[in-house]
Amino acid sequence: MQVGIRSETIKIVKSTLPILETKGEIITKRMYEILFTKYPETKDLFKNAPSNQHQKLANLIYLYAVNIENIAKIDKILDVVAKSHVKAGVKPEHYPLVGESLLQAIKEILNPPENVLKAWEEAYNNLANVLIEKEKRLYSQLDNSI
Ligand code: HEM
Repeated sequence: MQVGIRSETIKIVKSTLPILETKGEIITKRMYEILFTKYPETKDLFKNAPSNQHQKLANLIYLYAVNIENIAKIDKILDVVAKSHVKAGVKPEHYPLVGESLLQAIKEILNPPENVLKAWEEAYNNLANVLIEKEKRLYSQLDNSI
C-alpha cells in the first residue's frame, strides 16, 4: 500500500502525463547514464538486463502516473517487477540512487518548476516504498526456504 500521497501531488503528476508520453524514454535513458556515471557499482546489477530496459522503466513510470490514485490496479505488474528486482539482487539502498538520477534527468530534460520536481520526488518515493515492501517479503520467503 502507498500511504499519504498528497492530492496536490496526484494532480501535478497527472498533468505531466502528456510530456511523459513523448519524453519518458529520453528521460529514463538519461537516468541510466547518470546512475552509471555517479554510481558505477550499480552497473553489475544490470548485467542480464535487456537493451530496452529504459523503455520498461519508462512504461512502468507512465503506468504508475496513470494509476497513481489507485495503484492496486497495477499490483500484479509491480509483483513482476519486484520478482525481477529480487532475482537481480536490487536492495532498498539502491532506490535513492535511482531516485536522485531520475530527478536529475527530469530536471535536465524538462527543466520543470520546483513544485513539479517535488511532486515527482514524492511520487517516486511512494512507488519505491511499495516495491521495497514487496521485495522485503520476497527476500524473507527466500531466507525461509533455505
Ligand atoms: C521505483 C523505482 C523502479 C522502477 C519503477 C523500476 C522498474 C523496473 C521494471 C519495469 C523492470 C522490468 C521488469 C521485467 O520486465 O521483468 C525492472 C527491472 C530491473 N530493475 Fe528496476 N525499477 C526501479 C528501481 C530499481 C532500482 C533502485 C534498481 C537498482 C539500482 C533497479 C534495477 C533493476 C534491475 C537490475 C532489473 C532487472 C533487469 C534484468 O536483468 O532483466 N530498479 N525495473
